[in-house]
Amino acid sequence: MNLLNLYDYSKDDILSLIELALEFKSGQKKVNYNQEKVVCNLFFEPSTRTHYSFEMAAKRLGCQTISFNPSGSSLEKNETFYDTVKFFEAIQPDALVIRSSEDNYYEQFNNLEVPLINGGDGKSNHPTQSLLDLVTIYENFNTISGLKVLIVGDIKHSRVAHTNIDILERLGNEVFLTGPKPFQEEGLFFVDFDEYISKVDVVMLLRMQFERHSEDSGLNYDTYLDEYGLNKKRYALMKDEAIIIHPAPFNRGLEIDTDLVESPKSKIFEQMRNGLYLRMAVLYNAFK
Ligand code: CP
Repeated sequence: MNLLNLYDYSKDDILSLIELALEFKSGQKKVNYNQEKVVCNLFFEPSTRTHYSFEMAAKRLGCQTISFNPSGSSLEKNETFYDTVKFFEAIQPDALVIRSSEDNYYEQFNNLEVPLINGGDGKSNHPTQSLLDLVTIYENFNTISGLKVLIVGDIKHSRVAHTNIDILERLGNEVFLTGPKPFQEEGLFFVDFDEYISKVDVVMLLRMQFERHSEDSGLNYDTYLDEYGLNKKRYALMKDEAIIIHPAPFNRGLEIDTDLVESPKSKIFEQMRNGLYLRMAVLYNAFK
């Protein structure tokens, strides 16, 4: 079964995946494919968390893995992205995990013989990140609906924001967006950070995605944390039970004060741990 985006996922589909991930996390569910399955991780764009938590998830399920390195591959002899993926299909692994900077790249692979899991496409989708965010939200609130979520920062360039805005709203949450003008997207409504920080259950910070900025944003990064980031003053305004999440990697001192990364309200490293168990659940479903 492919996992390309979350557009067709219902609340029940998502709750089932969360429950499966939490069963893997608690040890209640154990699966061992005895090295009979092979997962190919094809990351055409840099990654630490998604790439290596898929590696770990596959190994925890007793699978073998192949980790593609674009550097030194035949991409350097002008082989295309499409032909590279078709090669990996041809050698018959049991799942392909692919990340590419091309939006909706998966649309060119309609009839692959191998389950395809999207590890992130351009600015469009990052389904496993949203799912692990939902695991973390569920662990903290025992629900994935009826919450107030404030998404903060570089919304315009973020596939995490785009996937999460859609799925969180469809699940019946109130989603608010805040960020400086250059990172605002046409057609979306933005609120004042200082006004909304005290009202929300989840503060979802985003990384400043410098690699996707086509021109200088004109922002002063020396004062960014004070003006637009999660600093200690804003942290003090958060509700007692509110949590901070961030897909990472994070820019310490820019979108978040470095002391807040491991503060009591921050679930950032727990999110990363949940990424392992969520990806075990995703691979388990892909093999069905
Ligand atoms: N959150 C996330 O996708 O991180 P990586 O880019 O390190 O995979």
